[in-house]
Amino acid sequence: MRRCGNMGKTDTHIHTNYSGYNTKVGALRFPESVIDPSVQVDNARKNGVDVLCITDHNEVQGGFAAERYAKRYDDIEIVVGDEVMTDQGEVIGLWLTEKPKKFLTPEETVDIIHEQGGLAIAPHPFSVHVDGMQEKIFELPLEGFEVINGGHPDPYSNYFAKRVMDLYPGRWAETSGSDAHSICTTNYNWTEFPGTTADDLRKAILNKTTVGMGVPAPVLGQFQWSYEVVWGGQKLMYQALRRKLEPVPGNELIAKCLRNTDMKNITGIIMGFVYDVPFTGMLATLISTATLKRRAKKALKHIDERIAKVQKLIADIDSKKFLALTGKDVGPLKEAAAEVELPRVITH
Ligand SMILES: [Fe+2]
Repeated sequence: MRRCGNMGKTDTHIHTNYSGYNTKVGALRFPESVIDPSVQVDNARKNGVDVLCITDHNEVQGGFAAERYAKRYDDIEIVVGDEVMTDQGEVIGLWLTEKPKKFLTPEETVDIIHEQGGLAIAPHPFSVHVDGMQEKIFELPLEGFEVINGGHPDPYSNYFAKRVMDLYPGRWAETSGSDAHSICTTNYNWTEFPGTTADDLRKAILNKTTVGMGVPAPVLGQFQWSYEVVWGGQKLMYQALRRKLEPVPGNELIAKCLRNTDMKNITGIIMGFVYDVPFTGMLATLISTATLKRRAKKALKHIDERIAKVQKLIADIDSKKFLALTGKDVGPLKEAAAEVELPRVITH
């Protein structure tokens, strides 16, 4: 798939090795990503990306590292972001200057993002398997939400998001982010915007003129990523054992390997081989993909009911906002908010 005309290309959701670690299989904790920010920048340039938004989990230092590295090139700009965990799911802040605290309420987090001059985007809002904010997004002054998330190959999560987006044209900016934790899951999907610079992207998000493009990454890419993090984690633990690993400010993954006792690092390396050798990783990826698809199929059966509830919810939210703005109580709205004049007076 190629981009059209004079539109710029951005990936609004991508990770580096500043994203820490997570639990992937039972009690085993693996890195979220082992990709250096410079590698994501080089890969993005190869893919013709004009603006790359680095959105590590609860961290902005990966974005700053990418920004420093990218200064040597004039064909790419970096937006420093953060995929922040709130107490009700994740929200992405773009154009940040420092990391917001995690586990605050979504309202508090979005306020902090805006106070920094940033823009707030909901990643994978209707995910059937990760921490999306679901209907909570309608109560927040978000600039946009993802209609395509590269880590969601299921038939529900992205489809539902796109259906909601299309019901309310001009209300939110649509984005398509790879959510890539590896370079092998990049460039299957991206966001297009009028112009080519980070400023143009910001204007496009505010003007709601962004366009989500592409499709989620194939399962093979997720499988490659799972092996990459296991091997990468083993390498870091081995370097820590040999006292050859240096701390990097803001890089929690490296800090964790340095904090581990030698015994813990040795156990981690051995468990990594258990994951690699008998193809446990392949099996785990196939099982989780099948589970995800089953869940999505179940959710698809009730999709029209959920859309109707969303329309009612938004209509109610809008009538409350209208009352607060004008002092006029128009009562609960019976029709879909998209079909009445009311939402046009509501701005975020
Ligand atoms: Fe993510």
